Order: sequence, then C-alpha cells, then structure tokens
Amino acid sequence: MLTQRRMTLLITGAGGSIGCHTLKHALDNTNWNIVSLDSFRHRGLTDRIEVMLQAHPEFRSRVRVYTHDLTAPISDLLASKIGEVDHIINMASLSDVHDSILHPVGFIQNNVNVILAMLEYARAVKPKTFLQISSDEVYGPTDGKSFHKEWDPIVPSNPYSASKAAQEVIAIAYWRTYGIPLIIVNLMNNFGEMQSPAKFPAIVQRKVRAARASTFTRATRQTPSSSCSRTPRLTSTSKARLTSRIVTISSATSK
Ligand SMILES: NC(=O)c1ccc[n+]([C@@H]2O[C@H](COP(=O)([O-])OP(=O)(O)OC[C@H]3O[C@@H](n4cnc5c(N)ncnc54)[C@H](O)[C@@H]3O)[C@@H](O)[C@H]2O)c1
Repeated sequence: MLTQRRMTLLITGAGGSIGCHTLKHALDNTNWNIVSLDSFRHRGLTDRIEVMLQAHPEFRSRVRVYTHDLTAPISDLLASKIGEVDHIINMASLSDVHDSILHPVGFIQNNVNVILAMLEYARAVKPKTFLQISSDEVYGPTDGKSFHKEWDPIVPSNPYSASKAAQEVIAIAYWRTYGIPLIIVNLMNNFGEMQSPAKFPAIVQRKVRAARASTFTRATRQTPSSSCSRTPRLTSTSKARLTSRIVTISSATSK
C-alpha cells in the first residue's frame, strides 16, 4: 500500500520572535514536516526553537533546522538537503526600525537579498504557496480613523519599511513574471513571549521589575514633503488574515 508523503512547509526566520511561534503553530495544527532556515546572526536565536522543542519533544521528528544566511542564494546542496517543499513562509528579515535608521544600506541590502534568494529558490522548487510576511509600515503613517486597504499606495517612512516595500514589489514582479503563487500579508506590531529585550513590552517589564519611574514619549512622525502628501490612514488588519490563511492552508491540505 502506498503511504502518502507528508506536506513540507519551509519557514525562513524561524529563530525570530514571530517565527518561533509560527513554527509551533504549524506543528500544532498540521501533521506536516517543517524545515526552518535562519542565519542566527540577524537577531534569530536557536534557543527559541530549542526551548519549544524541549517543551514538545513529540514535534522533534518533524522539524529540521538549517543555518543559512539568505543574503547568499540557496545552494544545490542545501536544496537537496531540504528536499521537496510544498509551502513557503518567508519571514526572515532585519526588522528593527531604529537599527535601519542607523545602518540603512546594510539593512536594506539584507532584506532585498533575502527576498531574491527565496524567490529564486521558489522558481526552482515551485511551491503551492509563497507567503511573504510584510509590514503595515509600508503604507506610511495613519490618522487612527480609517484603515489601509490592499493595494493602497506604498509610502514608507523609514529604511525598514522601505526594505519591506522593496521585498513586496520584487515578489509581485516574480508573481507576474514567473507565476510564483504569492500571498502578501501586512502585519501590525506584534508582541509576546520570547520577544527581543529591545522591544517596548520587554523594556516596560524590566522597568516595572526594577520599580523605576520611567517616561515614555510618543515619537512624532515626519510629515512627508508637500509633493508626496497623502492622507495618513490607519494600519491594515492583515495579521488576522495571516492566521486565518495559515489555518485555511493547513485544514485544506493536511491529514
Ligand atoms: N515584530 C513585529 O511587530 C512585526 C510587524 C510587522 C511585520 N513584521 C515582520 O515579521 C517578520 C518577523 O519579524 P520578527 O519581529 O519576528 O523579527 P526577528 O528579528 O525576531 O526575526 C527575524 C528573523 O529573520 C532572520 N534573518 C534576518 N536576516 C536573515 C538572513 N540574511 N538570513 C537568514 N535569516 C535572517 C533573523 O535571524 C531572525 O531569526 C519580519 O519579516 C518582519 O518584517 C514584524
């Protein structure tokens, strides 16, 4: 009797703060094998994956982790180790706005090279889905009253959001030129367990623990120049779409 091959999901950036939860979500909600790619040199931590696997040893046989810096293409050898891939979630990126303002060139180059490496890989392996994780920041500032819509104009406010916008437009070009089965989601700010200590909730937690009085200021946004002025809008609600899309993919194709 023929045994059916399990689906394989490739997640890049699985050592990141959202990636490690996405990895667990996929393991919890499917019977798929999961391959993770991360450099572990761009804020990713092996411990985030290891801590989860220690708590859930039953998942271990379904997870493979390869250390690879995606500013370099995926080599034939690595591709052969990865094997067949059905779905890709491309989450790897530098994602700290402050860092991007301090080091814009290297930051943008990293994120552009990551998407190029992954799209070239997707052209070769032809996945059923290529889910690109983007940010609501590509749309620029909001007025807090209305929502961004899909295909709204892209008006990045800093090098990070410009690099995410660049990833989006390159992915769209690959979709239109090569038929990459692309889904883009624009996440809003996330926070949760195992997040970087540099993020706002962790800073607040540390201050509260140390019982220190702190002042938190709200950053004022730069107004775009007059030739570029547009009504700022509220962020998109795509985080929910991401979750529902992953659930849809898993319920449609697993088990
Ligand atoms: N955190 C948020 O609030 C937020 C909001 C909107 C969108 N996003 C997007 O979600 C994704 C994950 O964000 P996060 O907060 O978990 O960030 P993170 O920094 O915690 O994780 C990013 C991961 O990508 C990996 N990575 C970066 N460059 C790489 C490279 N060249 N090669 C291999 N791996 C590389 C890092 O090592 C890390 O594991 C990013 O694409 C980010 O732009 C995050």
